[in-house]
Amino acid sequence: MRTIITLDGPGGVGKGTVAKLLAEKYNLQHLDSGAVYRLCALHLQDCLLFDASELEQVAEVFKMKFEFKNGKFFSAGVEIPEERLRSEFTAQAASQIAVKPKIRAALLQWQRNYGGEENLVADGRDMGTVVFPDAQLKFFLDADAKIRAKRRFEQLKKQGENVSLAALEREISERDKRDRNRETAPLKPAADAIVIDTTDLSVNAVLDKVVERCQVFFN
Ligand code: DC
Repeated sequence: MRTIITLDGPGGVGKGTVAKLLAEKYNLQHLDSGAVYRLCALHLQDCLLFDASELEQVAEVFKMKFEFKNGKFFSAGVEIPEERLRSEFTAQAASQIAVKPKIRAALLQWQRNYGGEENLVADGRDMGTVVFPDAQLKFFLDADAKIRAKRRFEQLKKQGENVSLAALEREISERDKRDRNRETAPLKPAADAIVIDTTDLSVNAVLDKVVERCQVFFN
């Protein structure tokens, strides 16, 4: 049986970075579920179907076309540039389509199958609550919203995206509200999740805390 570690939390909390480092350390498959919703949102936009009723059907067909390979993301065989995938605009679009139960249902099995029988770390909003409720180890990372906006700001600046910190604070809090309050699979810690407040912690300090709990599974 494969070992599954879940890392959930709000935008800008650093779960993607921690998941990536954990995957490298223990040679795990890494499911970046935020990227799945982002790819789906971009595809729907490209089809000009953002508000159309066929949206769920498109998600159903489209999920066959995602591919994550060597840290790159493909949609129907075409590589999606990292800047486009990670932009705040795409994040907002992903958060908007992610409230739709049929879209979530269409993507559920794809995510569960990800990585086949290999050990997995999965990061997102509902990894521990809905997608992998039986995961062996669950974490929920949280941090003050202002700190998260600052982290995202630094990240986006590095990617060459020109955003103001004030605008980002607004966008992050809007996305938080939507992700936490939606009816289907809202962002919340699983009952058995280990909650880590990362407000005053460096990435390495968070990784150390996570590794401490993972050792029993991988050593
Ligand atoms: O983790 P991220 O910032 O890349 O996620 C972008 C959006 O996708 C997020 O605001 C809500 C949605 N999402 C989701 O609903 N469920 C997940 N498991 C992951 C992301």
